[in-house]
Amino acid sequence: MNDAKVVNPNMVNANVVILAAGMGKRMQSDLPKVLHPLAGKPLLAHVLDTARSVCSGRGLSKVCVIYGHGGAAVQALLAQQPQAVATARQEQQLGTGHAVMQALPELDDNAPTLILYGDVPLTTAASLQALLAAAGNDKLGILTVVQDDPTGLGRIVRAGGPHGAITRIVEQKDATEAERAIKEINSGILVVPTVQLKKWLGQLDNRNAQGEYYLTDIVAMAVADGVEVVSAQPAAQWEVAGVNSKVQLAELERIHQRNIAQRLLEQGVTVLDPQRLDVRGELTCGRDVTIDVGCVFEGKVEIGDGVHIGAHNVIVNSRILAGARIKPFCHIEEAVVGEVSVIGPYARLRPGTVLAEDVHVGNFVEIKNGQVAAHSKANHLAYIGDATIGARVNIGAGVITCNYDGANKFRTVIEDDAFVGSDSQLVAPVTVGQGATIGAGTTLTKDAPAGKLTVSRPRQVTIENWTRPVKLKK
Ligand code: UD1
Ligand code: CA
Repeated sequence: MNDAKVVNPNMVNANVVILAAGMGKRMQSDLPKVLHPLAGKPLLAHVLDTARSVCSGRGLSKVCVIYGHGGAAVQALLAQQPQAVATARQEQQLGTGHAVMQALPELDDNAPTLILYGDVPLTTAASLQALLAAAGNDKLGILTVVQDDPTGLGRIVRAGGPHGAITRIVEQKDATEAERAIKEINSGILVVPTVQLKKWLGQLDNRNAQGEYYLTDIVAMAVADGVEVVSAQPAAQWEVAGVNSKVQLAELERIHQRNIAQRLLEQGVTVLDPQRLDVRGELTCGRDVTIDVGCVFEGKVEIGDGVHIGAHNVIVNSRILAGARIKPFCHIEEAVVGEVSVIGPYARLRPGTVLAEDVHVGNFVEIKNGQVAAHSKANHLAYIGDATIGARVNIGAGVITCNYDGANKFRTVIEDDAFVGSDSQLVAPVTVGQGATIGAGTTLTKDAPAGKLTVSRPRQVTIENWTRPVKLKK
């Protein structure tokens, strides 16, 4: 976010501060923790997307990310965001309270401040909305969870037992034996009235077991100032689970994928094993779609009605139109598969491939930037690159378009109803005319006229009286 002043203060309805300065030592990685991908998207991007979806209904929001390590990489991610995001660098990690202090110049006093963690990726918009609603403009809201094992986390201390008013949060290391027995924990996600937040942060000290400026100390300050403290609870514990290690990252990845599979099942998609599906982007499916095990979908993938996706397919930024069947082990990237087409097993469709209806692409066939009209077939072992192929064309086994001379690429055009015999090379630029037949083994370097047989093979000869050599005796 830049320094431009908001003219109408009522336009800003929420400040969002995302804490992301932690080292992430346990990730054992050079990549800053919040940039590790979950479902193909950096952890921080998950948090930003959720924040945006929560705040979009509340008018303009100001978002500020507190970063520490890997500033350039974090900035690069933020530059890709649809909305401007401010950043503040926390030079030394002196605690969560100190982290939020870095954002203070960015915060608009007229709206409450929502504090999120960049390494807690799966909080739902519904839970944050519930928290914002509970806090309103003048209360302090805490997202809390009751969990069997609260070890290591801040405990919610309530006056007179579990249903009393919240009086403060105590960190594990500062807690008494009795406080450690409390199972209600602080998720870390808070909503705070901004004017008071600024005041309370100014009063923080680091006289505690860890020598840190604890953000959580503002809760007791709110109580002392007569500001009501409320709580909201997420629907599931994983919503507030953070990532500190690759083990935790893998656990959250599985939870996220299971949730996606669940949604697809509820929409009527037959997911043969919800444990063996990976969606890293946006997958939309029509009616009566079946997805077999081990498939990976990346980016934006659209699957039409009645499509069957066989086992172990990788499909990236592509559209598979109604009734198509993708047999196992294909890689399909930036391609369109036409209606009722049959692809694979073991086919590769590369960017720019557009197949019309009822096209058959079989095993070990690679198509790159090739447009294939209806009812054409390339069933075995072919390379089709930079080609325009008409309708009802038959491409034999082993056919190769020689599209590249080492410096430039050229197109091959094969017109309707042509038949290209096996093991032919089509040296582009070259055209096979309508209804032409190319004899097997032809190296086509000149256009083949329509309706005729063209063949470039030396004539077959048989040598009479020829005998095989015999092995010499030594
Ligand atoms: C904090 C809370 C604790 C809560 C727990 C939930 C405090 C004092 N304690 O614990 O009550 O149960 O989160 O996970 O707030 N960070 C910074 N700068 C810092 C310190 C932390 O940006 O100086 C960021 C981290 O990157 C992380 C988040 O703040 O995203 C929480 O930090 P972490 O050290 O994991 O939590 P605790 O302080 O132990
Ligand atoms: Ca800590």
